[in-house]
Amino acid sequence: MKLNKNLVLAISVTTLIMGAISVQAQEQPYVVTDGNKLDADSYKGFKLFRNWCARCHGTYGQGMVGPNLADSLNVISKEEFFDVVEHGKSGSIGSMPAWKANIKVIEGREQLYSYLKARADGAIGVVKPKKAK
Ligand code: HEC
Repeated sequence: MKLNKNLVLAISVTTLIMGAISVQAQEQPYVVTDGNKLDADSYKGFKLFRNWCARCHGTYGQGMVGPNLADSLNVISKEEFFDVVEHGKSGSIGSMPAWKANIKVIEGREQLYSYLKARADGAIGVVKPKKAK
């Protein structure tokens, strides 16, 4: 009977840990080390951002003619982010084109989100990211 109890305990602990890991994976789609090194996907997101978004939203998303996306991503959901990127947005600030015809942007939207989420969470600041080795 003792063995069974231990087994039950071990399973519950494992379940808890797995749960915690999956929650973390959902909340943090990025890994930042040394303050400026990004995991490969988020780094790809930064490069896409620099190519397609930075001219309006600032080099690191801090805002220019387009709003500060580090702030925005603390407000809008991931679904809203994808929706705006796909369909564009015209509002009180100005207007942004739809990106649905841009395969690179649409295919890289998860990576774009990861980089901007790292900015929104303050995990990486207004600094030039490097790719972690
Ligand atoms: C031509 C300039 C321009 C470019 C390029 C651009 N944006 Fe925008 N974007 C804007 C403007 C202006 C707004 C604000 C629209 C409004 O609400 O008035 C905006 C809004 C947004 C929003 C909504 C923010 C919020 O708080 O609701 C997101 C998300 C966004 N842009 C992401 C991107 C991404 C990702 C890219 C690159 C793929 C990009 N933008 C490229 C001009 C641009």
